[in-house]
Amino acid sequence: MNDIIIKNIKSLLLPKKSAGPLKGKEMDELEIIDQAMIVIKDDKVVYRGAETDDYQASETIDASGMIASPALVDPHTHVVHGGSREHEMALKRQGVDYLTILEQGGGILNTVEQTKKATHQELFDKASKNIIRMIQYGVLTVESKSGYGLDRENELKQLEVSREIAEKFPLTMRHTFLGPHAIPKGANSDAFLDEMIDLLDEVKDYADFADIFCETGVFTIDQSRKYMETANEKGMRVKIHADEIDPLGGLELAIEQNAISADHLVAASDEGKRQLGNSDTVAVLLPGTTFYLGKEEYADARGMIENGGAVSLATDYNPGSCVTDNLQMIMAIASLKLKMTPNEIWNAVTVNAAHAIDVDKGTLEVGDDADIVLWDAPNHEYIPYHYGVNHARTVLAKGQVVYR
Ligand code: NIG
Ligand code: FE
Repeated sequence: MNDIIIKNIKSLLLPKKSAGPLKGKEMDELEIIDQAMIVIKDDKVVYRGAETDDYQASETIDASGMIASPALVDPHTHVVHGGSREHEMALKRQGVDYLTILEQGGGILNTVEQTKKATHQELFDKASKNIIRMIQYGVLTVESKSGYGLDRENELKQLEVSREIAEKFPLTMRHTFLGPHAIPKGANSDAFLDEMIDLLDEVKDYADFADIFCETGVFTIDQSRKYMETANEKGMRVKIHADEIDPLGGLELAIEQNAISADHLVAASDEGKRQLGNSDTVAVLLPGTTFYLGKEEYADARGMIENGGAVSLATDYNPGSCVTDNLQMIMAIASLKLKMTPNEIWNAVTVNAAHAIDVDKGTLEVGDDADIVLWDAPNHEYIPYHYGVNHARTVLAKGQVVYR
């Protein structure tokens, strides 16, 4: 039996567990218990709260000077892919924008070429490096998308790699089919979309969600609606890359299609933000992408929260528009550029991120999985403040120390 007491925790952060995501003003509520302890039996939390002498355990971890939180959840990544695209960095600095690079056959299509060439093992080995870093940075739940195959064989290859990662590493994953991520060179977009729709029956066994890139030059609102409607009919929850660059009404479509999340939303309309407050769709904001694309305008997190919406944050790790595995860095950008409060940020990377991918994580109630991070920080505001470095000192996955 594995039992552990974590004692002398300076402050214990307890995001509120609820049936749905935290919305609007609730996002600024975070219970914090000072001088706390956590007791773990096997893989679960059996006590968390003020220090008491009521428990014995075979192992004690002294968390003096540290704060503790549920392990972080990264609800939007493209972690399985071949190759890299550092050559685009210079192009972008010369003023060639992201969608122009894609239109010229680069960008996502470049990564598609490299992903097709890579074997299952090569993709696994490459993604493993990112996953190990994510765990070291305190992330124990990760969503992983396909979308660099654009054909049956290679989309399934990516999803199989993603599933193998979930088996081999001490973390929880959710897998997303993103077949309609770009239009292959020379293909007709309607015909290609139909091919991806035809794959839904098969990918249902490999993926938890169906996602689409709705953007100028990629898939239109009508095409996205057709895809999402079909996925819904087949019983798959849907997600959408929406209003990243142009305001197409992707957020409204997400809500209409009862999407579990709408992601990016930099250019979301005021009407979309109003509707968000009356829906259970989670806005997954990706400010690292805005930063990395060198844009000035960030998603309007404040407007979404003030309209009563649920906001989450993710890295969007991918080889083109946001090359970082560091969710703590995203917390800093959310503070600086999205003007989110520390409490909102912590809820956005724990409980709301978990709701964005329908997983019971991101809280530390009795009976929850003991996915815990001890942070070398004096308080919870410190992590978005001291940016760019790793503050995670000890990471426990289901009660086992996986990083120290
Ligand atoms: O979420 N916007 C579309 N998809 C990814 C980027 C993928 C890539 O550039 O390789 C995103 O930003
Ligand atoms: Fe993405």
